[in-house]
Amino acid sequence: MSRPYVIDQLISAKSIAARIEELAREIEETFAGTEKLVVVGLLRGSFIFIADLVRELDLPVEVDFLEASSYGNAMESSREVRILKDLRGQIEGRDVLVVEDIIDTGHTLERVVAFLAARNPRRLKTICLLDKPARREVDHKADLVGFEIPDAFVVGYGIDFGQRNRNLPFIGVVRFIDEPPVALDP
Ligand code: PRP
Repeated sequence: MSRPYVIDQLISAKSIAARIEELAREIEETFAGTEKLVVVGLLRGSFIFIADLVRELDLPVEVDFLEASSYGNAMESSREVRILKDLRGQIEGRDVLVVEDIIDTGHTLERVVAFLAARNPRRLKTICLLDKPARREVDHKADLVGFEIPDAFVVGYGIDFGQRNRNLPFIGVVRFIDEPPVALDP
C-alpha cells in the first residue's frame, strides 16, 4: 500500500495564469514576425502548461510533442534521458519553442535541446514553468522560467507523483503525513 500524503499548495492557479500572460508577451516579442512558431511540448508533464500557453500566444503557432523520460515512476532521476516519441513535423530552418514543466537536474532539457538543435532550426528557445536550481547537475538554463521553486517534491498542473495528481489546477508540494511540513518560500 502506498504511503499516505497530503498536498500543500505552493503556487495558485491564479498566479500561474498571471505568469503565463507575462511569459506569452515575452515570447511574442522574441518571435515577432515569425512565419509560424513550432511549439513543442515535452510529454507528459507539459500538457497543461502548453495548452494554457498557446492559448495566450498572439502568434501563428503549430503544436507538436516530444516524449523524453528520465524518471519512470521513481522520485529520483536515473540521469538517463531517453527519447520515447519523436516530433511529427520538420523543424529545419524554423522557429521552435520547447515547453517543459520543470527543470530539476537539467539532464532532460539539455538532451532535448541537443537532439533538436541537430536538426538546424532557425531559432530554438526553451521555456520552463518551474525551475529547481538547488537540484541542478548540468549547467543548463531555460531561456524563460515561470517560477523558481525550493527543493520540494512538487505535483499538479501536469506534474505527477507516481502518475497521480497531474490534474490538480495548482502546483502543490507532497507532504507525507508522518513528516513535519516543509518551509515553503516560493
Ligand atoms: C520530469 C519532468 C521533466 C524532467 C525534469 O519528466 O516532466 O521533463 O523530469 O527532470 P531533470 O531536469 O532532472 O531531467 P518525467 O521523466 O518524470 O516524465 P513526465 O513528464 O512524463 O512526467
